[in-house]
Amino acid sequence: MKRARIIGTGSYLPEKILTNHDLEQTLDTSDSWIVTRTGIRERRIAAEGENTSDLAAKAGAKALEMAGVKPDEVDLIVVGTITGDFPWPATACMVQQKLGCSNAFAFDLSAACSGFVYALTTAGKYLESGTAKRALVIGAEVISRILDWEDRNTCVLFGDAAGAVVLEAQEGESGLLSSHLHSDGKYWDLLYQPGFGAVHPPTSQAMEERLQYLKMQGSEVFKVAVRMLSEVAQEALAAHDLSSEAIKLFIPHQANMRILEATAKRVGFAPEQVYINVDRLGNTSGATIPVALDEANRLGMLNEGDLILLDAFGGGFTWGASLVRW
Ligand code: ACO
Repeated sequence: MKRARIIGTGSYLPEKILTNHDLEQTLDTSDSWIVTRTGIRERRIAAEGENTSDLAAKAGAKALEMAGVKPDEVDLIVVGTITGDFPWPATACMVQQKLGCSNAFAFDLSAACSGFVYALTTAGKYLESGTAKRALVIGAEVISRILDWEDRNTCVLFGDAAGAVVLEAQEGESGLLSSHLHSDGKYWDLLYQPGFGAVHPPTSQAMEERLQYLKMQGSEVFKVAVRMLSEVAQEALAAHDLSSEAIKLFIPHQANMRILEATAKRVGFAPEQVYINVDRLGNTSGATIPVALDEANRLGMLNEGDLILLDAFGGGFTWGASLVRW
């Protein structure tokens, strides 16, 4: 059976580091409040003029280089993002142009913080079916542009980044073993961007009401996130009759440390099985999982045959887990 195997990873972080102490200068907040509640110490912020497609293309180029795949050998590009360069066309088309992937078809996928796991699953199906042989799958966000920097409830939590993988259809035991995706639209308004879609077009009144910025009911999101992240991780393990000890590395969506720790505890992962970078990067939405995967890969933490569990949760609500054999 053909599987979608990860043959290269890459990531890109904007240069600018914004620390909690920097935020103390402009907001009624403190380093200790942010660290205690979220575990976040600093995050990256894209430079003026640096857009999601720029971050995505840089992460993608690194993944292609590691994989030894030339741009024109890519058949498909999927970008998971909620902060694309424009409402349309797809940021994936700009990435295609920037990288010179002239033979690829390209589209974006909107599943908020679950965007990468949804995109990986979707690309995996094209490879398993034989429609494409190689895919570039990217999670990329410049979420700093949709944050209300006057709202301490939300702006301290997020950061900008991009991560990418190159998938190749291969026979054998390694690759994407299964994905388990879910959505529940009854929660759509707990975490969303009210403007500037069709409901609230970009009028001056919408701007005055600050509708262009991300809105979140944090404690409600927290409760559902921990439950869904744990349940879907357990669902993925059960589908393969595995216990948590069988997993070499658990890579949960890096929303905040308390969500990560509560989820890992519920599923039964030891701290050394869990990859964490939320302290350095904050919540980068669709980019958290591919950035973490690339960091772990480049640190030499992954060996052939290792089982890796990716676990995502985001606006919609959407959530999902993917089990990968390295
Ligand atoms: N600095 C100082 N005080 C703050 C800050 C801040 N940055 N933000 C909020 N507060 C205040 C609030 O105003 C409130 O004050 P009040 O009691 O005087 O009204 C107080 O702190 C407590 O606020 P709560 O919202 O009850 O704090 P809570 O313990 O729930 O923590 C947090 C807030 C960290 C947002 C938490 O709810 C959380 O982690 N939620 C998950 C949200 C998340 O991670 N979303 C990311 C997107 S979804 C995802 O990726 C899974």
